[in-house]
Amino acid sequence: MRTQPFISQSTHPELMIQKSAAQWKGLIETYRSYLPVSNATPVVTLLEGNTPLIQVPYISKLVGKGVQVFVKYDGLNPTGSFKDRGMTMAISKAAEAGAKAVICASTGNTSASAAAYARRAGMRAFVMIPDGYVALGKLAQALLYGAEIIAIDGNFDEALRIVRQLSENYPVTLVNSVNPYRLEGQKTAAFEVVDALNKAPDWLCIPVGNAGNITAYWMGFCEYHQQGYCDRLPKMMGFQAAGSAPLVMGKQIHHPETVATAIRIGNPANWEKALAVKDASQGEFNAVTDEEILEAYRILAAEEGIFCEPASAASVAGLLKLKDRVSSGATVVCVLTGNGLKDPDSAIKVSDNAVKSVIPDLATVAELMGF
Ligand code: F0G
Repeated sequence: MRTQPFISQSTHPELMIQKSAAQWKGLIETYRSYLPVSNATPVVTLLEGNTPLIQVPYISKLVGKGVQVFVKYDGLNPTGSFKDRGMTMAISKAAEAGAKAVICASTGNTSASAAAYARRAGMRAFVMIPDGYVALGKLAQALLYGAEIIAIDGNFDEALRIVRQLSENYPVTLVNSVNPYRLEGQKTAAFEVVDALNKAPDWLCIPVGNAGNITAYWMGFCEYHQQGYCDRLPKMMGFQAAGSAPLVMGKQIHHPETVATAIRIGNPANWEKALAVKDASQGEFNAVTDEEILEAYRILAAEEGIFCEPASAASVAGLLKLKDRVSSGATVVCVLTGNGLKDPDSAIKVSDNAVKSVIPDLATVAELMGF
């Protein structure tokens, strides 16, 4: 979905040269020295990564106290979500190992991304989804990319249990975020944030489902910190939908519910890792209601011109909820994980805007416009 490569300021010259080159080469080539790849790894890429970090002045003003808020708009990746960062790595490594088929459980975005990268690598892509709970755009993608789609009368957690067992017993590689290469690819988003800001933010607000992305971001910040590219680490602020908030409640949710279907997960596979990230970063997990998520979703579009999917808006909803606790003058990055076009139904439902129908006549149109 990205049309123009975004050229960010880099903290180190080697990346500066690569990023200012006319053609972005994808995140594996750009961050090769930080990733577990070798010359023997066939790089499967759709030129993912290099997504913009955008200032959001209206939201900054809502937070107040001179806080500067940015969004990391990862919905501009090739299949419209951050999953592409992990998938370029997972599929490249699967190809290196000679895999002929991959499988994932998914609330939608992983399935679209896995399908695109697997098909590009000439592999079969099996995706297991909770029947009736995948946004239309994501389903459309998986269909057209040629995935073999299996819908179950169950939720994501049940699907993940089955695909894990399948990958243990049959020749199919699991590409959910329990695959360590996924997290390796996804950590590059943290590199890009630091490259763009020339520092780490004070808070990193992020929606949490299976808790892979929060883990990956933390890995990225820690690696850059060790390399000396940032002199501090952010507080990792994870947000879950109130009806699907196992990490906030401290217990598995057997029947997770939320309008943000992407994060409708009751038993995150990366639970332990996410708790470790919270502790190490002195961060927190908090819940946001569906109403708060949808309000942030609407504000992002109507006030900032940024269309993300509902789950992504949980990061902004969370920041707005906790705004009194942000330090004055802080820098906050909210991760927008998926593109709004993924879920047109939610947009149409939430909007109180209406299409005005009119006859094709100049005077009538002008009058309707209030002129
Ligand atoms: N935002 C979006 C748009 C997502 O699709 C997901 C996860 C998350 C946030 C949460 O990320 O799982 O790493 O904590 N979607 C997965 C999927 C579960 O199947 O597409 P996480």
